[in-house]
Order: sequence, then C-alpha cells, then structure tokens
Amino acid sequence: MEETRTSFDAVVVGGGVIGLVTAWRAAGRGLRTAVVDPRPGGGAAQVAAGMLAAVTELHHGEEALLDLNLASAARYPDFAAELAEAAGAGIGYRACGTLAVALDADDRAELRELHLLQQRCGLDTQWLTGRECRKLEPMLAPGVRGGLRVDGDHQADPRLLTAALLTACERAGVAFHRAWARELTVSGGRATGVLLDSGTALAAGATVLAGGSRSAGLAGLPPEVAVPVRPVKGQVLRLRMPAGPAPFLSRTVRAVVRGGHVYLVPRVSGELVIGATSEERGWDTTVTAGGVYELLRDAHELVPGLTELPLVETRAGLRPATPDNAPLLGPSALPGLHLATGHHRNGILLAPVTGDALAEALATGELPDYARPFSAQRAFGGVPGVIA
Ligand code: GLY
Repeated sequence: MEETRTSFDAVVVGGGVIGLVTAWRAAGRGLRTAVVDPRPGGGAAQVAAGMLAAVTELHHGEEALLDLNLASAARYPDFAAELAEAAGAGIGYRACGTLAVALDADDRAELRELHLLQQRCGLDTQWLTGRECRKLEPMLAPGVRGGLRVDGDHQADPRLLTAALLTACERAGVAFHRAWARELTVSGGRATGVLLDSGTALAAGATVLAGGSRSAGLAGLPPEVAVPVRPVKGQVLRLRMPAGPAPFLSRTVRAVVRGGHVYLVPRVSGELVIGATSEERGWDTTVTAGGVYELLRDAHELVPGLTELPLVETRAGLRPATPDNAPLLGPSALPGLHLATGHHRNGILLAPVTGDALAEALATGELPDYARPFSAQRAFGGVPGVIA
C-alpha cells in the first residue's frame, strides 16, 4: 500500500543500513519517522562482508575512531538480540574472532607493526607462530609465517541485518516513501524536509542525510553544509563451502598480500565471502576480471583449498569515504539537517552506535559525548568541511 503520510518529526534520506538503523532507533524514541529510498535495504550492505573489525582494521592516526568502533562492537550482542526480537529474524551475528596472518617477511613486518600499535592502544591481541595459526585453521597454506589472533573481531551478515532492520522499522511504524529524494527543502534558514521525485513534499522537523556514497549529491544543500564523502569501490566474491563435520574455516582469516588487503569471512550458512578491492573509480561498480583475479590469487595463497569451491557471486559496491575515514554524525551547519554518512570501511560495525547517537541527536538536539569527535561540523584541514 502506498504511503500517504507526509508530515514527520524525522525524515531519513537513504534506506541502507545506516538510514534504517537511524529510523528504527528514532521511532523507538517516539518520533514519527519516514525513510525515503526507491529500494530500501539496498546499497553497500548488499555487498559488504560484515566484518566487525575494530581491532584488525586499526590504522595509525585513527585512535579516536578506534574508540567509536570498540564502543559499537561492545553494543553488538545486545543490538543483535534486540533486533532479532523486534524483527523475528536473526542478523547472523557470530562471535567467531579473527586471525590476521602473514605470508612473507614483508607481511610479517607489517603485521608486527599492527601488533605494536594494538598494544599501545591497550588492545588484547596475541602473536602466533605459523604452526599455531595452522593449528587453529588447518586449511591455511603451509607458508603462513605467523599471525595475530584477535578474539574480539566478530561478524554479522549485512543482508540479514538490512532485512531485519526493514521489518523492525515497519513494525515500529516507520513510513517508507519508495522514491528518490529530489531536493532538500529549506525555509527561514532551516531544513524543512524533502521534495520527492514523484512531486510529493515531505515536511519534517529534522531531516537526516544518510545516503551513503551518494550523500553529497542531494540538491538543495546550502554551501555552508559540507558533505565531503566520495565513493571507494570494493569488489567482493561469494563462494560456497562444503558442509561437513570439520568447518572449512572457523573464523575470519585475513592478510595483507603484496600490499593489498584480503579477507575471508565464513558464515554458518556455508557462504564464504572474500573481499575486497579498494579502488578510487568514482561511481563505477563494474566487476572486473582483474579485480576477481587479484582477490582469488591472494585468497588462494592463504587458503589453497578454496579453488575447489563453487564461485556463486561477484559484486562491487561503494564505500562512503571521508577525508579522515570517520563518519559524519549529527547536526550540520544548517538547523534541522543532520548527517549520518561517511562510514567508509565500518558501516556494519558502526550501525548500533550510529543509530543510538542519531536518535539522541534527533530527540535532544545534541550528540552524546562518545559521538562528538565525529560531529558533522568538524573541520578538515582547519576549515569546516574543507578537504586539506
Ligand atoms: N571493512 C571491509 C572493507 O571495507 O572492505
């Protein structure tokens, strides 16, 4: 049935994981909420592997982001249970841990550096010999030289997560307008809602821009609202593991091979997700022979036995990246407009904390303390919104 309500406390532009979790949590705070998206539940989450890799994806200079990532990872068990209850379906949350391994001396040196950084950040990770790695994961190549055991980096299934969020939103009374948002409407120096492609105008006390990599493209954004988000392409493969008494892989396995990151995420369902390329190619989402070749070549060096597995899907998606790789959250420079975008490599991981932070900002006008370093109004290169 077509949605006829047009006046809301909050309108969320974008129905990917971040838009849906924001809408669900906003509705939970008693706000009359709508989502605008021609195909809610689509987007990058349909491609993402769903690693909750706060510790294994730590980078120098991203210690503040680490705190947000860890806060969200800590919320995941309760979030998964609450969402499963609300939707009547699970999200594939699996507390399986991660093993990051090295294949040669260069990889090992890079992994040792990561280990030192993790130790400086007070993180609990354990260095293993190659033999110890293979004892944990017998399918690993004999050439594995060592690895880091990270028992706290788990996984969720992004496709199950979006399906559950859609159902939970519907059950919480969120309205779905299945159309493109043509333009942000502004009146008296405030965002007042959005005009849809269909010609329908939605009025909102607050509008949330949660359009992933496309967030900057909404017409009507005034010049003082910077949305420094660009697409970063990731190609991902899906294979099918054999059913059997011994699991093919029991945890996420990842490595840096010749400078490129490769990861293998085994699901209970038998799906094995292999990702991901990282390419600056604008809006291109072509799956290329070169991308598939590189992923399979690198994954095969880690786990030679995977060449026997059926390859069931190849796909590319776009990560919404910002200049500092961290999300843009909460009130923007335009009253009435909030941002929930720019989650780059961490959209699935950051879903719980983003939903909570945005719901708080929508209900009270203020981001909670833990989200303030990621304010949508923070400066890049010394000037708000300007990319250095
Ligand atoms: N976090 C995994 C990726 O962005 O490829």
